[in-house]
Amino acid sequence: MKPTFVIAAAAAAAALLAGCCQKCGKGDACTAEACDSRNEVIETILTRRSIRAYSPEAVDRTQMQTIVECGLNAPSGLNMQPWAVRVVDSEEFIGGMTALYRERHPETDGDESFRNMFRNAPTVVFIASPDDGSGVFDCGLLAENMMLAAWSMGIGSCCLGSAIGFIASTPETAPFIERLSLPEGYRPLIAIGFGYPDEQPEARERDMSKAIFVD
Ligand SMILES: Cc1cc2nc3c(=O)[nH]c(=O)nc-3n(C[C@H](O)[C@H](O)[C@H](O)COP(=O)(O)O)c2cc1C
Repeated sequence: MKPTFVIAAAAAAAALLAGCCQKCGKGDACTAEACDSRNEVIETILTRRSIRAYSPEAVDRTQMQTIVECGLNAPSGLNMQPWAVRVVDSEEFIGGMTALYRERHPETDGDESFRNMFRNAPTVVFIASPDDGSGVFDCGLLAENMMLAAWSMGIGSCCLGSAIGFIASTPETAPFIERLSLPEGYRPLIAIGFGYPDEQPEARERDMSKAIFVD
């Protein structure tokens, strides 16, 4: 190993132990928000927000391909990749499921702002995993990779637990789920809406006390 590399690695380790990043001179006062060496990855993570208002056009498929590729590069236990990703930008598909949703949610009648049950997203990604629950953690990592990649490209997203709850509790959605051609034994775990943002929401507060360093 080259001596310069060893010195650099030791300096980096010392800086980390001191609670400060390698380049930033703020010492213990360094936080992700205030760090002087904040880079593009940190910027993307800290500025991402859930988006619930979009331009009507679907996300360009070439861009979605990049986003999906970033998802598929997420880590997974034993590299088992226990996921199936389905990108839906068909207005007929999204509109058909939304029609079912509206039957159950008459309060959406007359709501001018309501375009579809996926928080109005024009592109929806369904992430499915084995129904024994074994892929849940892995799929979460995949999902976040996709949302961060999207945000770095100016594309908004929102994780939609409510959509999965609706699918699970509404047998009439079965024909749509069949169209996803999921592998045997897989079920939809997460839906994520994607689209070009038409809002700039404020950050929701985070409780930093949920993480502590243990001496
Ligand atoms: C598992 C999961 C399910 C979610 N389900 C919904 C949902 O059904 N509808 C919605 O509007 N937002 C949903 N969200 C988005 C959260 O409300 C949002 O991430 C949280 O309020 C923090 O805001 P931020 O993403 O803008 O930082 C979900 C997020 C996660 C991780």
